[in-house]
Amino acid sequence: MASLTDLEGRLAGLGLDSPFPDVPAANALTKPIDIYRLHLASLIASTLECDVAAAYEAILTATDLTLADLAVVVPKLKPKDVKDIKEFAVELVQKLPTSPLYAVPYSDGVQLRFFFSQKTLPLLMLPYIRERGTTYGEDHAQGLRGKKKVIVEFSSPNIPGEFNGTHLRSTIIGSFVAKMHECMGWDVVRMNYLGDWGKDLALFAVGWEKYGSEEALEADPLDHIMDVFHKIKTDFQPEMDASKQAKNENKSTAEIESEGIFAQRDSFFKKLEDKDKDTLAFWKRFRDIALAKLEPAYARLGVTFDEYSGESQPLQETMAEIEATLTASGVLQESDGSQIINFENHGNKGLGTVIVRARTGSSTYFLRDLAAAVDREKTHAFDKMIYVVASKQNSHFQQIFKTLELLGREDLAVKLQHVNFGDITGMAPHLKKTMSLGQMLNECAEIMQAEEAKLEDDGSEKQGEGEDDTAASNDEAGSDPAAVGGLLSLDLFGKRSHGYAFDKKRMAAEEGDSCRTIQREYANLVSVIAELKGSGGDETGGSEDASPDHAVLQRDESIDLLRMMAQYPDVTAATFKSLEPHGLLSYLSRLVEASAAELDDDNAGDEDGAGPSSAAPEEDTAESRKAKLVLYESAKQVLGHGMNLLGIPLCDE
Ligand code: ARG
Repeated sequence: MASLTDLEGRLAGLGLDSPFPDVPAANALTKPIDIYRLHLASLIASTLECDVAAAYEAILTATDLTLADLAVVVPKLKPKDVKDIKEFAVELVQKLPTSPLYAVPYSDGVQLRFFFSQKTLPLLMLPYIRERGTTYGEDHAQGLRGKKKVIVEFSSPNIPGEFNGTHLRSTIIGSFVAKMHECMGWDVVRMNYLGDWGKDLALFAVGWEKYGSEEALEADPLDHIMDVFHKIKTDFQPEMDASKQAKNENKSTAEIESEGIFAQRDSFFKKLEDKDKDTLAFWKRFRDIALAKLEPAYARLGVTFDEYSGESQPLQETMAEIEATLTASGVLQESDGSQIINFENHGNKGLGTVIVRARTGSSTYFLRDLAAAVDREKTHAFDKMIYVVASKQNSHFQQIFKTLELLGREDLAVKLQHVNFGDITGMAPHLKKTMSLGQMLNECAEIMQAEEAKLEDDGSEKQGEGEDDTAASNDEAGSDPAAVGGLLSLDLFGKRSHGYAFDKKRMAAEEGDSCRTIQREYANLVSVIAELKGSGGDETGGSEDASPDHAVLQRDESIDLLRMMAQYPDVTAATFKSLEPHGLLSYLSRLVEASAAELDDDNAGDEDGAGPSSAAPEEDTAESRKAKLVLYESAKQVLGHGMNLLGIPLCDE
């Protein structure tokens, strides 16, 4: 990657000879907007004789590109002895020296607005993006100071149990969180914390004795596991009801829970925790079966894991140590045979109470999670661990973090973060009952095919990319960009905390922030680039070796596309901070609009020789084709990079 000195050399070629001022918050090597901000900050600082870092802070990136690229918020400059700030803004805009990087600025109330110079923008931006290649939009600065390590724990379905909407969202958002960290130079461990231990698995084992069939398991493993699980749950329901009623009447549940399915379940779980050989073999068998089905389905979403951990993992010794410490400090109390923490006693009334160890002597979800955090810190020495789990579990994680503090482990608690999200509503009942991510994806593929067929029937002339696989009926079906694109249009649309409805029409809609539209524009760019390169016939169309003639890019459409591309690293930086995918998605939609306008205009120019462009009709030379080629390749790269961060499959074959 070029150094600041190289960059200064390039700028000198554009007629700019002042070196970059030293502003620690800026990074001109990864964010081209910072070249502009830094340069403008020095102009302001020398005009007003103020601090250059303060001037830099007063310059904002405009969100509405019809108004400006950058805006200086004049009051933020805190000018002294100024009575009328608007008047001052008018004076300042006149006093500022002209610059090869900017068109003539204008004042608008208390802001000064700046457009990038059309002349120098392509000369600056195209080599900048090209040199950085696929790292454009990334910032590995943290890596230079010694790589930091993050564990991103996500997906985490239960065995047995439904792969439900929260697992689906956790998979999508978790993979995005992992990629954002890689993009910013972190060393990432993707971890799946399977719910493979506990009462449900034990209940299933009781059910297996009664209803399990080797043939049915062979025929459709996940379906049969779910079937057995549902049957035993139905059998168990009356006992659960009786226990609940006793609780409501403030009676002890001990007797009810010491017989029937309760007793069978709890004894299986006890044997499991005591590491009984046959019981462990049962656990391993069903864990392996579920994993074998899950992995190919994850692959269809483009999701991978470095580690399949699980609730079976936390060490018994770690749990015992935690309990000993909590008992010694009087945090752990006995209540009706269970060991509990009452957070009210520790200044957190809102957190209620939690059972740490059950009356049966078995561990709980809570205790296992606590021990897992302690164990993982030892084995992975992470700097940060992120749990991507539904908002429903907000208080669970608050209880975990608080308990670590009570254990004297604030050092660990501060490294943990819960990235939460709202649930999906309106899933078809048969999807709610399935244990299979593969089936969910098949369903999405079917919906997309039906909806897209409807759209085509409606007379809209959509061009398919020809890659829309038919929905396969098994979990191992191949890649399905349309299905994943449709699903992500729903999932990434709003803020994470907002849930959403599983709405078929919206999945296929091509307006708003639609992943389908983004996929189609990517495919368009791919084919336009191939055309420009003269695929077939003449190998390169003569443009590959030509030196680009940037004059052809002096049109509003090309310039607007470049202005959007210049913002990309700022968008990834903001997205990394918020870990909200929707900002990046809406940026990609705007980039796609700019790209579509550019390609449309370019076509119009080809057809009638002029088109609605602002510049004179250009000649179609190898040099002008080369300039367009570089522009489109850069656009494709930026778009593809953003799609990859969000997990939107590229349709370029
Ligand atoms: N298996 C859990 C569930 O389905 C999610 C696990 C979340 N992660 C955790 N460390 N608690 O609800």
